[in-house]
Amino acid sequence: MADKLEVTEEVNRVRALFGLTGRVAVITGGAGLLGTKHAEIIATAGGSPVLLDLPQVKPRLAAEAIAKKYSVDATGFAADITQLAVVEKVRDQLLARFGRIDILINNAANNPKVEAESSGSSSKTWSRLENFPLDIWNDDLRVGLTGAFLCSRVFGSEMAKRGKGVILNVASDLAVIAPDQRLYRQEGVPEDQQPVKPVTYSVVKTGLLGLTRYLATYWATSGVRVNAISPGGVFNNQPKAFLAELEQRIPLGRMAHADEYQGAILFLCSDASSYMTGANLVVDGGRTCW
Ligand SMILES: NC(=O)c1ccc[n+]([C@@H]2O[C@H](COP(=O)([O-])OP(=O)(O)OC[C@H]3O[C@@H](n4cnc5c(N)ncnc54)[C@H](O)[C@@H]3O)[C@@H](O)[C@H]2O)c1
Repeated sequence: MADKLEVTEEVNRVRALFGLTGRVAVITGGAGLLGTKHAEIIATAGGSPVLLDLPQVKPRLAAEAIAKKYSVDATGFAADITQLAVVEKVRDQLLARFGRIDILINNAANNPKVEAESSGSSSKTWSRLENFPLDIWNDDLRVGLTGAFLCSRVFGSEMAKRGKGVILNVASDLAVIAPDQRLYRQEGVPEDQQPVKPVTYSVVKTGLLGLTRYLATYWATSGVRVNAISPGGVFNNQPKAFLAELEQRIPLGRMAHADEYQGAILFLCSDASSYMTGANLVVDGGRTCW
């Protein structure tokens, strides 16, 4: 019979593996649908989430709600991550306040909801490759890739200097497979006007996997681990016809709940994943294995 002391030691070991006590975790797009979920699991594990998001999304309010609910030190910054000076200012404020930055989750992205697009009846459906506006291309890459690069450069360098840290890039199942454009089809709309998942989504998410591998090897000897997570789609009241089509393509037969990535996020941000770097953890209900 394992004695009580051994069991207690094992329990403490599990707590230590997944615990984030005292760790400061920057989450870009932290006030969005999934960003707040990432912040909540970090708070539950004892960490201090720092939510960066655009002012209109009110990251300070989101952080206040988390601080109150979990009795932790949560902070929100109205910060555009595409601006180097803004990101550096956040770093300086965090170092002045906490003296450390332990975790960065590159989660911000532009997420156009083409499944609900109603412009399919217009003669110039914006999402189609032939019409895709250059400004949207530039803006999507600026947020999804340049923002992730700038935050990695600024916060990751700080971690490398201290010799410890974790960066987690939020990619997508569409970093692994091409979008199935049949999912976005609308009844009665001519072929050349059918909405599609924008090209930028695939480019940004696949680019993040490249950034993950680059940074993982670049900082491997500096104690900074860098991984990606590729989540499948989250249920968020999408149109019924879209859901019916998508669910047939997912072995588990449904989209994810918004809190279903929290286990994987905690694993990747904590010491539980200490021997993992440069990897992409696919959490997609099995979609990409079909
Ligand atoms: N929701 C899904 O089904 C799903 C599936 C796979 C991957 N993802 C990825 O997960 C991440 C979060 O998605 P979500 O569903 O929470 O989307 P969301 O739109 O709710 O969150 C994204 C957040 O990024 C913020 N943001 C945009 N530009 C910014 C900038 N310049 N500076 C700072 N913040 C900025 C937005 O304001 C928003 O709050 C995204 O990278 C998304 O691509 C989502």
